Amino acid sequence: MNIQGKTALVTGASRGIGRAIAFELARQGIKRLLLVARDSAWLAEVASEIEMLGVEAVILPLDLSEVVEVNIAIAQAWRDHGPIDLLINCAGVAHQAPFLKSRLPNVQVEINVNLIGMYTMTRLIARRMVAQGSGTIVNVSSLMGKVAAPTMATYSATKFAIVGFTQALRGELSKHNIRVVALLPSLTDTDMVRELEWFRWVVPITPQKVAQALITGLQRDSPEILVGWQSHLAVWCNRIAPWLLEKVLLMAVPQERQARYQRLTDARATSR
Ligand SMILES: NC(=O)c1ccc[n+]([C@@H]2O[C@H](COP(=O)([O-])OP(=O)(O)OC[C@H]3O[C@@H](n4cnc5c(N)ncnc54)[C@H](OP(=O)(O)O)[C@@H]3O)[C@@H](O)[C@H]2O)c1
Repeated sequence: MNIQGKTALVTGASRGIGRAIAFELARQGIKRLLLVARDSAWLAEVASEIEMLGVEAVILPLDLSEVVEVNIAIAQAWRDHGPIDLLINCAGVAHQAPFLKSRLPNVQVEINVNLIGMYTMTRLIARRMVAQGSGTIVNVSSLMGKVAAPTMATYSATKFAIVGFTQALRGELSKHNIRVVALLPSLTDTDMVRELEWFRWVVPITPQKVAQALITGLQRDSPEILVGWQSHLAVWCNRIAPWLLEKVLLMAVPQERQARYQRLTDARATSR
């Protein structure tokens, strides 16, 4: 895809990977960016920095789990700033917990933002892209959408779902000249992972590296864009020797969280 002179909408653009993607698109010659997230102050800051690069930036402060508001805002945005050529579904949330300690409200937030939010935005934009006869949609999954890891069961479930959703849409929308791409970053240094306990041996990459990999993948028309050598190694190992990867993942589980959980269950057992 050639992004020169095009209009893109990026969700999750206030921080982390979405913000880095917005900047990279601006550097690569996009004409206009529509920036979506909840925090309007952070969006305004990103927009003003992007405008310094000579790119038009429009902020759309939205909570993706508020379906009606998203519907209204996208209809207005398409009318005032469309057509949109490129949709990047990047907004996401992650909660880490040993499964037996997981809490339904956290799981519901993951499902609402990572899946329902992505579905809502994709449906609104894809219908309009079909009418205009072209477009590209990028869904941000994760390495955890290919290789599930202990303590991340519900997050991994949403990211596996995104890979399936993307693959199905790719087939359905290709006849309308719409490309659908999955971006699968590995551990990336953002606010999201600062609240998590990291897996041993995993080296975080920068959001800028993810954004650059996306641009290269779009130029090559790749249907799935894996980022970083660790992702390629994990996916390859999962295909060739899944039993080995499973063992490695068990050894890599955050030790502190596991130990704390073990202490808790031991204490409960002795108090019974
Ligand atoms: N970091 C990693 O290691 C990693 C690895 C693989 C994949 N990913 C994926 O990459 C994407 C971006 O993650 P990140 O690391 O950049 O996370 P982040 O720094 O926490 O940023 C998350 C973004 O999503 C937005 N967001 C969250 N809830 C929202 C809601 N209800 N409505 C609208 N926007 C919402 C946030 O903006 P507001 O808070 O302002 O709403 C923010 O812009 C996610 O889909 C994540 O699963 C991350």
